[in-house]
Amino acid sequence: MTRAFGAGGHLPRAAHLVGWGAYAPSQVLTNADLARMVDTNDEWIVKRTGIRERRVAGPHETTASMGAVAGLRAIAVAGMDPDEIDLILLATLTPDYWMPATAALVKEAIGNTRAFAMDVMAACSGFAYAYATAQAYIASGMARNVLVIGAEALTRFLDFTDRGTCILFGDGAGAVVLSASDEPGGALGFELTTEPSGAYMIWVPAGGAAAPPSASTVAGREHYIRMEGKETYRFATKTLAATALASIRKAGLAPSDIDLFVPHQANIRIIEAVAKGLGLPMDKMFVNLDRYGNTSAASVPMALAEAVNAGRVKVGDHVCIVAFGAGLTSGAVTLQWTADPANGLRAESIRPEDVHIRMPEDWNSVDQLPPALAAILAAPGPVEVDLSDVVPDEPAATNGAAALNPAADGNGAADRNAAADRHGAGPADPNGSGPGVHEHSPGESRAARGAAAPGGAGNNGSGTPATAGPATDGTVAPMREHEEVNS
Ligand code: UT7
Repeated sequence: MTRAFGAGGHLPRAAHLVGWGAYAPSQVLTNADLARMVDTNDEWIVKRTGIRERRVAGPHETTASMGAVAGLRAIAVAGMDPDEIDLILLATLTPDYWMPATAALVKEAIGNTRAFAMDVMAACSGFAYAYATAQAYIASGMARNVLVIGAEALTRFLDFTDRGTCILFGDGAGAVVLSASDEPGGALGFELTTEPSGAYMIWVPAGGAAAPPSASTVAGREHYIRMEGKETYRFATKTLAATALASIRKAGLAPSDIDLFVPHQANIRIIEAVAKGLGLPMDKMFVNLDRYGNTSAASVPMALAEAVNAGRVKVGDHVCIVAFGAGLTSGAVTLQWTADPANGLRAESIRPEDVHIRMPEDWNSVDQLPPALAAILAAPGPVEVDLSDVVPDEPAATNGAAALNPAADGNGAADRNAAADRHGAGPADPNGSGPGVHEHSPGESRAARGAAAPGGAGNNGSGTPATAGPATDGTVAPMREHEEVNS
């Protein structure tokens, strides 16, 4: 059997999706939390986006660590040993560092010795682009088993004074294993587009070669995500249905043949527009953005894993994944499902606390959260919060916020430590008992070296050491956590 691929070509070898998995950090940031930081409210966010809450990576969690957990889960679901993977592709716009590739750190963390590993940068379309890249490697015979990861630590790159962006994004990771097969099935049609006229609609102005990090770029908050929301929305609603339709047609199918769409989880109104554009009911669209927000390259694989584990897909079904993002890019993959959905249970064997990213020798225990966000997450209810470090010109609080401001009184340091504990020392994963993914090379801290290290999800891009203080004392503050995606 031959399958249509692109404009009249043929896939020499099929790539079956044999493993899937996801990881969501346990810290929850609700709309109400955000309303305590910026001028917004739950009603506006829910009505305009559909998002109710999102997850925030804890201390020691980075794009690599979250990607490694999701990747190991996908490998477990595939019933493989990590060393059977011969290519690791990691889609992200929030790499741990500019170099090396985050995929290299993941390779080590999952205990793989054979694979070559690289990152794919196509913003929120990254997972679709990486999927297509994996397909090409498998089809050409250059790889047999490919681990495709989408992972993001977006909260490290959000300006929590900008209500137009900080309400939208969250952290997490999803992954699939694609494996060469002589049987029919797997991806049947791809569509990938890039529209550079919109290159500056969603972007991070500084930190790259065009605007290297400097005191002035940091002062200008240019290392954070900026977005023309309305223009991006227009692009998405215009493009997504067309991109999905092109991939469906290249697969030789019609929209009505698709059993489930897994769209990029950016905005419920955008997903409704895709359904309308394809003439399909919303019950064909899988939606989980209410709980995770927009996790960029992680959003589609996280949603796919959840959909499969929720029984939304069976063998033989046609699934279409579709995404859009900075670039401006869009990508869609139409595939025929071949794996037993029950295999998803195997992911439960992977516990985040067993996955270690080897950190640099001088890495110390640090909390990469902006202090004001850490304070919000630590506080159980309404509280006056010191926003002096996130809101320019905002005076430091002197009364109710004092307990959250180490400089304000003697209790501050202890409470800050409690805040850090809330993110790291408590149970980060309902499947496990430990602190989630953690580093294991303590030593002199970056702060001690005075290293300003903007860029990379391993720090906050602020140009200041990404630390909330010394290692915590082991006490656990009250936590408001949800079960993670354990697919
Ligand atoms: O992966 C790709 C990532 N990007 C996206 O998916 C973004 C796509 N764009 C969107 O999802 C929407 O454009 C947004 C959710 C960002 C904004 O929704 P919108 O319906 O386009 O709102 P808007 O920008 O037109 O703003 C409407 C009003 C404005 O007030 P006025 O001028 O009418 O008085 C805004 O100032 O809502 C105000 N507003 C807010 N109000 C409360 C904007 N943001 C907020 C907010 N809370 N967070």
